[in-house]
Amino acid sequence: MNGLFITLEGPEGAGKTTNREYLAARLREAGLAVVLTREPGGTALAERIRELLLATASEPMSIDTELLLMFAARAQHLQQVIRPALSRGDVVLCDRFTDATYAYQGGGRGIAPARIATLEQFVQGELRPDLTLLFDLPVETGLARAAARGQLDRFEREGRAFFEAVRQAYLDRAAASPVRYRIIDAGRPLPQVQADLDKLMPGLLERARG
Ligand SMILES: Nc1ncnc2c1ncn2[C@@H]1O[C@H](COP(=O)(O)OP(=O)(O)OP(=O)(O)O)[C@@H](O)[C@H]1O
Ligand SMILES: [Mg+2]
Repeated sequence: MNGLFITLEGPEGAGKTTNREYLAARLREAGLAVVLTREPGGTALAERIRELLLATASEPMSIDTELLLMFAARAQHLQQVIRPALSRGDVVLCDRFTDATYAYQGGGRGIAPARIATLEQFVQGELRPDLTLLFDLPVETGLARAAARGQLDRFEREGRAFFEAVRQAYLDRAAASPVRYRIIDAGRPLPQVQADLDKLMPGLLERARG
């Protein structure tokens, strides 16, 4: 596999999707083949699993069910989209990946990271993102942006403590693997965030062109 696997992480309203589009445009201008995708989801079947995960359903979802559905969707996404794209040599820009599982199901729900790591190994083998952009911002800023968008999903209905734990889990993971992560201060106005992304571009282009 010789493509470049970039993931965008951070809480709701951090700007992952907005900046994924921005990065994709910059990379395509430079002549690279870019695949835009997201988790949970990214294939027809995985998007159906996403609907199950986000729906505010009639029956409470067990924490382990939530964890396993995340990895079930991921297995499908890897097989159908991510691995083929990386084999072609494309740049994959993925909105959330396994760091989100460590942050939400680990930090937020309290599942031990070692249990998540077992599933990570089972589903991904050795595949890990080459680079992870962590869009970090104060919890209330992100929630306000997400709320402005309307209807809250099953995660967005969680309380403040849940999102503080998610944020901390992300920051802890970034601190533990500083080579893989870039922490971006996403609480600033968008032009400033995107100026940071522009600064990353030369390095990205160099890596993508191998
Ligand atoms: N730096 C910023 N300053 C102000 N508003 C922003 C900034 N970045 C994104 N936004 C706005 O905040 C909202 C959420 O952004 P976006 O959908 O990109 O976030 P997200 O991280 O993808 O959220 P989610 O996890 O809920 O999908 C959008 O309306 C977007 O225009
Ligand atoms: Mg988004």
